[in-house]
Amino acid sequence: MSRVALVTGGTRGIGAAISMALRNAGYKVAATYAGNEEKARAFHEVTGISVYKWDVTSYEDCGKGIAKVEAELGPVEILVNNAGITRDAMFHKMTPQQWNEVINTNLTGLFNMTHHVWQGMRDRSFGRVINISSINGQKGQMGQANYSAAKAGDLGFTKALAQEGAAKNITVNAICPGYIGTEMVLAVPEKVLNERIIPQIPVGRLGEPEEIARAVVFLAADDAGFITGSTISANGGQFFA
Ligand code: CAA
Repeated sequence: MSRVALVTGGTRGIGAAISMALRNAGYKVAATYAGNEEKARAFHEVTGISVYKWDVTSYEDCGKGIAKVEAELGPVEILVNNAGITRDAMFHKMTPQQWNEVINTNLTGLFNMTHHVWQGMRDRSFGRVINISSINGQKGQMGQANYSAAKAGDLGFTKALAQEGAAKNITVNAICPGYIGTEMVLAVPEKVLNERIIPQIPVGRLGEPEEIARAVVFLAADDAGFITGSTISANGGQFFA
């Protein structure tokens, strides 16, 4: 029986590449999305991967959504907390709403999702939790006090939970992507991207979503059980943590 993997924000960007890579590696995949129906439907039509709609900022909706996935596909044994948003602004212009939206999605979303699968993983003595953090949680980024705080929080969450899960064969790891060529990064003003960001990347280009997905497949494997509490950086040499 193939294991079930759930990928939040799994129908677009890095998440879509993760969903497809896990499917290609033999997992049964559920991909969630929050709002973009059109993209989600197209993703399902092209890949055949099951898609589910809920917002990771709601603890109750996560519970209901995960129950539906488990009823349809089976117990979630691999959780990839990928869903994330940006609300970039210099701190002196940042609103409480911009702060709260990013913290609620990119940090509290990890609690809301993981809490609902954790007991099942403990009961079955197997689990893989893979959190998609960011280079900007490691190094900080101007214009992203909210995002950098949330993504750094994801790393603390990963390390604490890794210690709790270890005795039950549940690994918890983080991946820190650098700047990957997705809609999120391409929304950065072109001048900033070309003149400020890409010149800071030693490999001289943005990353590809598939270059993150392959790290997820590596961590999800049954024989990756000795790797826990780790942070894998995939950033083209832009920052060495
Ligand atoms: N790196 C280096 N310099 C940056 C920068 C960055 N990432 N972002 C902004 N700056 C610089 C600008 O070049 C500008 O410098 P100059 O005045 O010398 O030209 C200065 O900061 C102010 O920027 P703006 O004039 O653009 O100020 P603004 O108030 O109009 O906009 C902003 C501010 C919304 C933060 C905008 O600059 C921006 O979107 N910057 C990109 C921030 C960023 O890197 N976001 C990452 C998004 S991708 C992501 O988050 C995925 C991931 O995990 C990596």
